[in-house]
Amino acid sequence: MAPKTSPVDQLSEAEAAAELAWLAAEIARHDRAYHERDAPEISDAEYDALRRRNAAIEAGFPALVRPDSPAHRVGPAPAGGFAKVRHGVPMLSLDNAFDPADFGEFCDRARRFLGLKQEKLEFVGEPKIDGLSVSLTYQDGRLVRGATRGDGLEGEDVTANVRTLPTIPKHLKGHAPARIEIRGEVFMTKADFLALNVAQEAAGQKLFANPRNAAAGSLRQLDPRITAARPLSMFAYAMGEASELPAGTHWQWLARLREWGFAVNPLSDLLASEDAAAGFQAGVADRRAALPYDIDGVVYKINDLALQRRLGFVGRAPRWAIAWKFPAEQATTVLEGIDIQVGRTGALTPVARLTPVNVGGVLVRNATLHNEDEIARKDVRIGDTVVLQRAGDVIPQIVAVVAADRPPGAQPYAFPDHCPVCGSLAIRPPGEVVRRCTGGLVCSAQIEERLVHFVSRAAFDIEGLGDKTIREFHADRLIEGPADIFRLPDREAEIAAREGWGEVSARNLSAAIRARRRIPLARFIHALGIRRIGETNAKLLARHYGSFANWRTQMLAAVQIGAEARSDLGNIVGIGPAIAEELAEFFAEQRNIATIDELAGLLEIADAEAAGGGGSLAGKVVVFTGTLATLTRPEAKAMAEKLGAKVTDSVSKKTDLVVTGTDAGSKARKAAELGVRIITEAEWRELAGQPF
Ligand code: IVH
Repeated sequence: MAPKTSPVDQLSEAEAAAELAWLAAEIARHDRAYHERDAPEISDAEYDALRRRNAAIEAGFPALVRPDSPAHRVGPAPAGGFAKVRHGVPMLSLDNAFDPADFGEFCDRARRFLGLKQEKLEFVGEPKIDGLSVSLTYQDGRLVRGATRGDGLEGEDVTANVRTLPTIPKHLKGHAPARIEIRGEVFMTKADFLALNVAQEAAGQKLFANPRNAAAGSLRQLDPRITAARPLSMFAYAMGEASELPAGTHWQWLARLREWGFAVNPLSDLLASEDAAAGFQAGVADRRAALPYDIDGVVYKINDLALQRRLGFVGRAPRWAIAWKFPAEQATTVLEGIDIQVGRTGALTPVARLTPVNVGGVLVRNATLHNEDEIARKDVRIGDTVVLQRAGDVIPQIVAVVAADRPPGAQPYAFPDHCPVCGSLAIRPPGEVVRRCTGGLVCSAQIEERLVHFVSRAAFDIEGLGDKTIREFHADRLIEGPADIFRLPDREAEIAAREGWGEVSARNLSAAIRARRRIPLARFIHALGIRRIGETNAKLLARHYGSFANWRTQMLAAVQIGAEARSDLGNIVGIGPAIAEELAEFFAEQRNIATIDELAGLLEIADAEAAGGGGSLAGKVVVFTGTLATLTRPEAKAMAEKLGAKVTDSVSKKTDLVVTGTDAGSKARKAAELGVRIITEAEWRELAGQPF
């Protein structure tokens, strides 16, 4: 039987059930061919089509979803991403200890929980590898699934990728339980990481920050051939789901892992009592620098698996294991300068430029200084010798200044009050620690995000001008600021000649842009992307000020006269002082005024309905449901709000009107049950005074 092609909505229940049964068997067969025999019989695209068909039928006939639905099992990654995998036993994290006292407390807690007095606890100590944990499921001794940890509950299916790792056996040697899940840490050696970065640089590819990131990036490749080319290894250390318990102690478990063909970290050791842990910790710390891979501590696990089971978990960590971390590594070096980085939201972040120094095997050139208060608190000055600290994956930090080594004449650092990228004012609102550039629309550090927002659905909503196009046009300098968007129709021929474009699409884009030259004031205000001015606040402002000219004048007055004069803003219900401040800051920047004036010259900004205006639907609650043929949802919503109505998502007794498009489902039914008035899209347009 070949896959059916009749549209899902034309299937009878019986046909749907039969096809779902066929799909479940067929997909399972291909899964086995692919995962277990390495001999796929169909292409990935054909396989994806089977899964998509299955999903479509399940969506149309939710009552027919089978217990063995392929959607609940995991196959190879669908195009564009990895399939999700739910872990049978969550993949948790570990609590940390930093000194012998922390470790002693951990032991006391476990003893108290178990009702033990001074009895010794036996441990296994294992280096804590700085990599990423993976889960490997073996069915009848064969590797059938590999998954990342993800958020601990749900990870990603990386079966095809883990199969490329030489240290991951595809078949377990000797006897194994029918089904067993093995967990371990995938990592890259320090030497391989450095070599990979050299190759990446030569190929113009992005560099990895550390071996851990390199390992994670290499494993999470959609093309397993890339993973195969990367030098990854794994140390096995834990068990997930198992059909039978293969050992009585963790130490025996590690022995079983070795027998089955896994690599187990050779430094792991059985420790007869907790007193042995301190010695083990020191011993591993001594060997740390010479190890070929990064470790950031030692994991201590209570050896007896029966005790582990009794102890269980608290929150996201087991009561039977702890990670005793090595102290953060420190070094001293000289602060050569402070660079101010401007983020995509306009936040100014100070970054220390340092004389490069080796901290625990990593060459550090930069460190975060967090914000201007931190610089002042530590009194960090350019030229100072500073103590630098790096802990695990954390960005290196400056801990303190070596006061004795301060060069004569070093001045306290003056944090800039202008954006180093665009020169606009950088303002720090009272009570906040972050200083921000106010020139969002002119600042090249922020412009792409702002432009994407500018044309988004709830703002200018220009069809055919999505995220990707905005970024490409910005990169190629077709759009440098928002006003350039409205000049694109003059460059239609140039756009038509671009790759992926053509005369028709370029002409359509011009038409879409021209269609938006007239814009309601609220949308215009929202499009500017002023902090805290979202759709709702933009509407409040538009209704209050009525016209663009009035809004502009009042805002400029508010800036000039100062805080008290912003009381008019305070009179607008819903506009708090923080929002008033943001507006004032926006209008304090000349470049922003120049930009909105330039836009106003190119656009027709339509006046808003006066506040409190009794539209024909004033106070009514409207719900839209189903697919509307002539209106987007934001458009329909705007229409209703213009008439004074409130738009909600769900139907209740409070609903006054339900507007139904095609495929309106449960909401329309509920409205009928409740006796709420139901009208069609055409009737709605009629009612709103905008008939077809
Ligand atoms: S056991 C329930 N053993 O550390 C405890 N974890 O901070 C399961 N890790 O997510 C973890 N080496 O990625 C364990 N020998 C080791 C480990 C180890 C590294 C990682 C692992 C885990 C994280 C927890």
